[in-house]
Amino acid sequence: MEVSLKNQIAVITGASSGIGAGIAKSMAEAGATVVVNYPFDGALDQANSVLQEITQKGGKGIVYQCDVSKEDEVIKMFHEVVEQLGTVDILVNNAGIQKDAKFTEMTLDQWNAVIGVNLTGQFLCAREAIKEFLRRGIDLSRSAACGKIIHISSVHEIIPWAGHANYASSKGAIRMLMQTLAQEYGGDKIRVNSICPGAIQTPINTNAWSNTEAMNSLLTLIPYNRIGQPQDIGNLAVFLASDLADYITGTSIFIDGAMTTFESFSTGG
Ligand code: BGC
Repeated sequence: MEVSLKNQIAVITGASSGIGAGIAKSMAEAGATVVVNYPFDGALDQANSVLQEITQKGGKGIVYQCDVSKEDEVIKMFHEVVEQLGTVDILVNNAGIQKDAKFTEMTLDQWNAVIGVNLTGQFLCAREAIKEFLRRGIDLSRSAACGKIIHISSVHEIIPWAGHANYASSKGAIRMLMQTLAQEYGGDKIRVNSICPGAIQTPINTNAWSNTEAMNSLLTLIPYNRIGQPQDIGNLAVFLASDLADYITGTSIFIDGAMTTFESFSTGG
């Protein structure tokens, strides 16, 4: 059976770099028309180069600037995307940031910035996407489901992370947001799931892989003994958004080279 996203419109937040860019490329390759969302003017060039790579391979899409933590910007983005492309079938709630600090030194600004993008941003985009899914209704020429939401969470949905209380809290909360939405809108045939990546080689965690010592230390946490690539997440996102995954909803899928088996317990405990 073919894994296809043909005739579908996918909004991918934070798609100008990292995991989001990887997902946008994979989804476009699977036939979706992608909205490459980027957060601010400074990221326009990066968003354009993601789109250029997509169109060079025969894919389709647009770039769209929107800070997902701002309600008016999110409402406007969904309104304009629907106006321009007709509807939205898939939302990939990917935009995410880290502002790391020791807990007693963490400022309210650092806390609010991370919760604002990673959690409030996912709430706002999911709300606007679900409104559009319900307005359009099921269209079997597009998909068996009325709409699909993929939250990009993290292994830190379940692994506590010293020095990253804001980030880990945002990811833990995403699990309850995802499951609640899957429960609330299952009857409308809207599928909602999370992807929980481990260490993926992107700009957000450069300090964990940019030199040999850091990489070797990172690999001690990963039984499969390699860092992940955005393409690994893209592959899973395509499957999860496709009709092959039609019975998968309300779940978190970890994609982490077995990081969540807690490698340090292989010789202890
Ligand atoms: C974080 C990365 C980190 C990885 C594994 C991700 O959610 O954004 O910085 O390398 O989790 O710890």
